[in-house]
Amino acid sequence: MSEVTYFTHKGILFPINICTRETLLYVENEFQLLDDDVVNVVYPKSGTNWMAEILCLIHHKGDPTWVQNVSLWDRTPWIETGTGMEHALKYPPPRLLNTHLPIQLFPKSILHSKAKIIYTARNPKDVLVSFYHFSKSQRYLKDPGTVEEFLEKFLNGKVTSGSWFDHVKGWMEMKDRANFFFITYEELKQDLRGSVERICHFLGKELNSQQIDSVVENASFHKMKDNKMSNLSLLPDTLMDHTKGKLMRKGICGDWKTHLTVAQSEHFDRVYQEKMRDVKMTFPWD
Ligand code: A3P
Repeated sequence: MSEVTYFTHKGILFPINICTRETLLYVENEFQLLDDDVVNVVYPKSGTNWMAEILCLIHHKGDPTWVQNVSLWDRTPWIETGTGMEHALKYPPPRLLNTHLPIQLFPKSILHSKAKIIYTARNPKDVLVSFYHFSKSQRYLKDPGTVEEFLEKFLNGKVTSGSWFDHVKGWMEMKDRANFFFITYEELKQDLRGSVERICHFLGKELNSQQIDSVVENASFHKMKDNKMSNLSLLPDTLMDHTKGKLMRKGICGDWKTHLTVAQSEHFDRVYQEKMRDVKMTFPWD
């Protein structure tokens, strides 16, 4: 594949190989969300595929047949990519959609839609580490360089999907709306069953205890790691160098401690405090 290139759309970097300005403008201005859509909104490396799997399993009341036989990107298309949008437009409702878009680029049709949005956030230091490793294997992402180099890019929002801080702050403006549900990767890790029950309640889905057990079991790290429909092992070599990394890497909280030096962590904390000082919420990692 030729050299990786990004383009800037309204201040945010996108990989030229999978997104176009035309698709982004279409998504923002013309794409119509439907009242029964469920949109999985996540900053990269914060549990996008995990939440997508949970939503697919809830959608089928815990029956794993769908997640075991259809690829995750076909079950939950990424609306900002060309192929994802084509697929979303043909998807029989009710649709499950994915996106990494910051709120300002999200479909404006949300203003008049009851579509449900689930936003998952993760400790940004773990996001940084996961993003660093993932970038090495994805051919449409630039080589991250050293941890130090990637840290600076991450803190300055010079990575695809833009600044983590802006993404979270932007989406938190929705937090009091009835069709918006906020959860963290850390809550999913700490209590997956309780989290699944809360998500079902938000979606208005009534699953019995055995069905919830099945969602929890089939969305576990180990089940997803072994499921080729969910672990990205079917991504073509043109998009992913499978010798350089895996989606299902460690799946833990706090891996940043084995990657960042004390100085890097303190630098991160200073930037975090400065950028998040106007946010009146506490997160599990605070
Ligand atoms: P790590 O790289 O820290 O292991 P995304 O789906 O947004 O790209 O996020 C990928 C991260 O979510 C990876 O983190 C991956 O291991 C983790 N992940 C995916 N499925 C998971 C699961 N079922 N349980 C725990 N973590 C999961």
